[in-house]
This record gives sequence, structure tokens and C-alpha cells, in this order.
Amino acid sequence: MERVADLLSKKTGIHLAERKLALVENRLTRLSGKIGYKGGFEELVSLIESGHHEEEFINAFTTNLTSFFRESAQFDDFLGRFLKEYGHQKPSLSILCAGCSSGEEPYSAGICYLHAKNEGIYNGVAKITAVDIDSEKLTAAKTGVYQMPHKNPFPLWVKEGGFFEIKDDNGHKKIFIKENLKKIISFEKHNLASHSEQFKNSFYDAVFCRNTLIYFNKEKQLMILNKLLSALKIGGTLYLGHSENPLELTAKLQKKGHNIYVKKGTEGEA
Ligand SMILES: C[S@@+](CC[C@H](N)C(=O)[O-])C[C@H]1O[C@@H](n2cnc3c(N)ncnc32)[C@H](O)[C@@H]1O
Repeated sequence: MERVADLLSKKTGIHLAERKLALVENRLTRLSGKIGYKGGFEELVSLIESGHHEEEFINAFTTNLTSFFRESAQFDDFLGRFLKEYGHQKPSLSILCAGCSSGEEPYSAGICYLHAKNEGIYNGVAKITAVDIDSEKLTAAKTGVYQMPHKNPFPLWVKEGGFFEIKDDNGHKKIFIKENLKKIISFEKHNLASHSEQFKNSFYDAVFCRNTLIYFNKEKQLMILNKLLSALKIGGTLYLGHSENPLELTAKLQKKGHNIYVKKGTEGEA
């Protein structure tokens, strides 16, 4: 358990809480199946420690729960305040989704942007960069095909046809993201906990980093928050998950709503 926790922390920054033995065993079993490994856990961990199957190990230990328009009030803010008021003054916008999982979050932001454009709420051009450490989820995100949940996950104003199609695929209803939405998003592999991987300074107008900080200890959370705040322009918006907060960096931010913050400062400052 300790060896796995150390490995995971070294490779991803993710902090495995104590008493998660069942989770570790479950993930190691899943990993063994993926790589066709038949031996015991001890040998498997030694194999990973010696540099094998790193990518599969990381993919097996990330928690990727996500959905379209998750915590929908933040997308109401993104559409009704950010794009309408802040975005209106800017001909181009750069948006970052950090910890994007299989893509539902950046696609939701992209739907807001295309809707704003269709309705004349925002007339400029937006690009979304979506990053994650899990290569499997990034591949799924790029493919843009999702199982249709039992309950329609989209707000009433989202009309099928403009951004996606719902089609039957072997008896399962699936959501197929359309090219016009796909092409505004680039999915990239990035380790948020790595000092050597950085974002462009003061480049992004909005940063979504939701339900991702919770997997790190406080020190790593602060490091990631500093990295994200450096990437965010003054006046830009930071969206955090429902149980996350900006810790000691609160003084640099103005609260705009539940876990919605605008970066304070004046032009010329970083
Ligand atoms: C629970 S999901 C959150 C997805 C989405 N932001 C949401 O709120 O629905 C957390 C994501 O963080 C990613 N993640 C974990 N550690 C990471 C790291 N060090 N760098 C980048 N992404 C990481 C995981 O792979 C996972 O996809």
C-alpha cells in the first residue's frame, strides 16, 4: 500500500488517503487485466517501480467521474456573466480546462460559447485547451462519443443538432459530438503536479479546475493553484469544484459566486 502511494505521488502528485487498501487492490487488479499480467501485486509494483507500464499505472489510479454541465450554475455564470460581460470586450478568448477527464466539461464550455455566438451574446472567437494526465480519457475525449444518460444532461436551451447528435449505436443511445464543437477544443496530456510542465503566463481568460484539487494534499493543491493563477489573466475567471477552495490565495481573488473567482490586480502585474 505504501509503495503504491509513493509511486502514485511521485508520478502524478495524487495523494492516496490511508485505509484505501480495497481501492488499491481493485485498481491493481484492473491494471493487471489491462496489461495481461498474471503474477502477484508485489511483483507488479516492483515492475512499475523499475519504469514499466507507467502510463497504464497512472490511468488505472486516476478517478475520472464527470458529466455534461456538472455543477450547472457555473455554466450559467460562464454564459450569462463571463461570455456576456467580460468576453464582450475581447475579440478572442482562451479557456483552460485542467483535469478535463473524458471531455464532458470542455464540451459543455464549448456548447456555451457556440450558443453565445449563435445568439449574438459573444461575437469573438474562443479556443479551449483541455488537459489531463490520463491518456485513455484524453483519447475518449477526442473521440467525442458518449453513452446517453437516463436523464437528459443538457440544459433546456441546448438543442440537439447544433452541437451533437443522439444516435442509436447497437441498441444504445449515444451522444456524438459534432465537428464544429470538436474543432474549438484541443486535448493535451499535462501533469498539473509537475513543476517542469507549465502553462503560458497570463494567457487564459477562464480556467476550469474542478473536482481535481481534492486528489492532492494541501501543499500540492497550493502549487497547482499558483500555477493556474499565473496562467490566468487579471480579470479572468477561475472555476473550482463544489468542495474545493483557493486556500491561501483567496486574497488574490474576488468571489463572484459559489467557487467562482475573478483574479484581482491591475494591468502590468502578473
Ligand atoms: C474527477 S475528474 C474531474 C473532471 C471534471 N473536471 C469535472 O469536474 O467533472 C479528475 C480528473 O483529474 C485528473 N488528474 C488527476 N491528477 C492529475 C494530474 N496530476 N494532472 C492532470 N490531471 C490530473 C484525473 O485523470 C481526472 O480525469
